[in-house]
Amino acid sequence: MRKVSVIGAGNVGSTVANELARREIAQVCLVDVVEGFAQGKALDMAQAGPILGYGALLSGDQSLDAVRESDVVVITAGARRKPGMSRAELLSINAGVVAGICRDVKKHAPAAVVIVVTNPLDVMCYVAKKSTGFPRDRVLGMAGMLDSARMAAFVAMELGISPVDVRAMVLGGHGESMVPVVDFASVNGVPIRQLLSEEKIEAIVERTRKGGGEIVSLLQTLSAFYAPGAGAARMVEAVLTGRSILVPASVWATGEYGIKDTFVGLPVIVGEGGLKKVLELDLDEAALKGLKSSADSVRAGIDALSSEG
Ligand code: LAC
Repeated sequence: MRKVSVIGAGNVGSTVANELARREIAQVCLVDVVEGFAQGKALDMAQAGPILGYGALLSGDQSLDAVRESDVVVITAGARRKPGMSRAELLSINAGVVAGICRDVKKHAPAAVVIVVTNPLDVMCYVAKKSTGFPRDRVLGMAGMLDSARMAAFVAMELGISPVDVRAMVLGGHGESMVPVVDFASVNGVPIRQLLSEEKIEAIVERTRKGGGEIVSLLQTLSAFYAPGAGAARMVEAVLTGRSILVPASVWATGEYGIKDTFVGLPVIVGEGGLKKVLELDLDEAALKGLKSSADSVRAGIDALSSEG
């Protein structure tokens, strides 16, 4: 059976593990530095199996040795921004966490596909790529699926219809510079511009950009986890089963859209073994400009980290 390791058994990590266990597509190994935490979560999930009707193999471990021979490693571990902590401080703390994890991934699971969820997302993807030395098709960041799902949910709420029929695509970095591409949002193929006014669309775009912050201000001490967890699990599913998906994901750009030497959310096909293809779609001028400037802001984060040494 294929194996997925999820690093970090907090809310996001355990949601990913739970989503995967329910799909029964892999053996799921949860890892957390806090003693007993991953073991406890894995045991609890295994005990839901008889009720919910799944029988996936679940385990929990404190040591990163447990990632041995994983096909996919999902990285969710990292600090959350605490009051008074600057973005730069968070960046440098989490860069250390992700780099440490990746050294073990490289050693114990050299053929794995790495899916990064830790924030600041795009910069952490860079750290993961650098620390593992893996090719770009095996280091992906999950954020675009989350931001797109948020946009789709807002469209559905505005129209009072099921979100299942709504599709959206948000490109760029996972921050306020993200680019919700209005032209790509539709309800069963009907462009949202035919369904909603400019003002309503603008409000949805703004709310999407601030979607993560909206959840934090409601939860106070926590950030979102159901939607991020669902997004990461969906990517893992595509990588493991080969049921490819066309989604935005953070990837190392090599000239697409005139962007290179940075991670940024681009439209890609994810499937068996990771990144299959980066798509160069026609974007209107504003979206293209927004995407480039979003990429610049991610690159500034990468440069800040590199100059720290
Ligand atoms: C979010 C943060 C946690 O978008 O990245 O919810």
